[in-house]
Amino acid sequence: MGVRLAGRVAVVTGGGSGIGRASAVRFAAEGAVVTVADLDEAGGRQTVEQIQAAGGRGQYVSTDVTRLDDVRAAFADAARLGGSGRLDVVFNNAGIGFVGAVDETSPEDWERVMAVNLRGVYHGCLCAVERMKAQGGGGVILNMSSAIATMGLGRRAAYAASKGAVYALTRSMQVDCAPFGIRVNALMPGTILTPFVEGYLKRSFAGREEEALASIRARQLTGELGTAEDVASAAVFLASDEARFIMGAGLAVDGGLTTGKP
Ligand SMILES: NC(=O)c1ccc[n+]([C@@H]2O[C@H](COP(=O)([O-])OP(=O)(O)OC[C@H]3O[C@@H](n4cnc5c(N)ncnc54)[C@H](O)[C@@H]3O)[C@@H](O)[C@H]2O)c1
Repeated sequence: MGVRLAGRVAVVTGGGSGIGRASAVRFAAEGAVVTVADLDEAGGRQTVEQIQAAGGRGQYVSTDVTRLDDVRAAFADAARLGGSGRLDVVFNNAGIGFVGAVDETSPEDWERVMAVNLRGVYHGCLCAVERMKAQGGGGVILNMSSAIATMGLGRRAAYAASKGAVYALTRSMQVDCAPFGIRVNALMPGTILTPFVEGYLKRSFAGREEEALASIRARQLTGELGTAEDVASAAVFLASDEARFIMGAGLAVDGGLTTGKP
């Protein structure tokens, strides 16, 4: 068991799959008491089983991040589980994908993507800041943006807009939160092989998944996609005191996708 987050009380939204699950498991392995807040009960409970099997402490709380009341209740449950009433680390990770150019995106598609990826993050930030200020300051907020916030990738109008907004929100919030000792940073992953990307490959490239994977691999400087654990490692670092001087950053975890061309 590591100690980088010893005694910290953490929430991971969307912790029932992919990057959120890997992060929740890593947070707990580093000593945090972790609440997995997800819509998907089976996935959320599996994450908690993994945490407990490794000797960590965690709980699942049924949460739809598009509902402010759900998020508020999940954070209160998280603070209760921690025992001290404090909430130290909030990872606003839950998100959904959507493929479409602007004229392939209906107003309903737009609203759905924004509701989860942007309003959901706003809800998490609002509840986190309220709690962290009330407990006398201190805390870490991580927001899930994406490499897409800083590069043009086609047919992602709503998704790119939501992730760009999360990045801007993060930087603005950091200014307001700094006097309270709250750090706010964003994660900017490239293409990470999780159920999210597997589903995209199946839906958009049925029967040609290998070909599509090869073209995605070719745009990474590593030649490989990232793993959920790659992003979880960055999340642990940002959540820990090792990152105490990192504020309002967007940390690229993208195998070089945004820094150069192979
Ligand atoms: N996989 C990638 O390549 C990649 C790259 C950049 C950014 N991201 C972002 O990382 C985050 C996690 O992605 P992932 O690849 O692990 O996806 P995933 O689909 O494996 O996991 C997402 C989790 O979020 C949960 N979720 C969805 N809507 C929710 C809601 N309204 N309330 C609560 N939970 C909800 C799902 O149930 C699921 O457990 C997302 O925000 C995604 O946009 C992913």
